[in-house]
Amino acid sequence: MLLPLLFLSVMMGFRLIEIETNASRRFVKILGPEFVPPALVKIQGVVNPFARRIHITFEKDNENFIFHMSIRFDEKKNVVVINSQTNGTWGEEERVLSYFPFAPSQGFEMEIQYEEKYFNVTVNDQLLLEFDIRDPTPVEINKLIVEGDVLVSEMRVETLPGETNKECEELSLTV
Ligand SMILES: *[C@@H]1O[C@H](CO)[C@@H](O)[C@H](O)[C@H]1NC(C)=O
Ligand SMILES: *[C@@H]1O[C@H](CO)[C@@H](O)[C@H](O)[C@H]1NC(C)=O
Ligand SMILES: *[C@@H]1O[C@H](CO)[C@@H](O)[C@H](O)[C@H]1NC(C)=O
Repeated sequence: MLLPLLFLSVMMGFRLIEIETNASRRFVKILGPEFVPPALVKIQGVVNPFARRIHITFEKDNENFIFHMSIRFDEKKNVVVINSQTNGTWGEEERVLSYFPFAPSQGFEMEIQYEEKYFNVTVNDQLLLEFDIRDPTPVEINKLIVEGDVLVSEMRVETLPGETNKECEELSLTV
């Protein structure tokens, strides 16, 4: 019911104020061959009120995830789990317990610095984690996907200092 309205408001550039509870959403940004290190990705969003999980994935294709981040509110202790997937097989999980800057109904600002050998993730100006890229470099990253219990208000990609990849500024919403 909310969806046409939501879509319309995104199309017309209005700021979205309605937050649908427990909606399953997928925000996809096509990155393509221009997405090479060093690059900076900025994600702004609001966590849903009854959030359980948020997933952020840099993928080559649907069986190869270069970097996957799972923000979990549904475990004993809130945790960010990071991993990669090669040919459909998950690698070894790494769990980040030291800092958990997310809370239901709260906004966050994430900056992901993409370098040749690692991703560096900062949330609300504080370093959250570093992830060493496991695949032999150079890797091919075609899509950035943010999905789960979150409403994304902005995803921005800067591939060189001061230059914004315009292709990536559009928010495409797939449900
Ligand atoms: C949303 O999900 C939570 C956790 O599963 C559940 O307790 C709550 O009732 C759900 N709310 C709605 C509106 O579906
Ligand atoms: C993944 O699949 C590709 C293409 O089939 C193959 O070339 C590659 O060796 C595989 N990698 C691993 C780690 O299995
Ligand atoms: C990641 O970013 C933080 C904060 O800017 C910095 O202190 C740290 O050295 C960076 N890590 C790497 C591997 O570049």
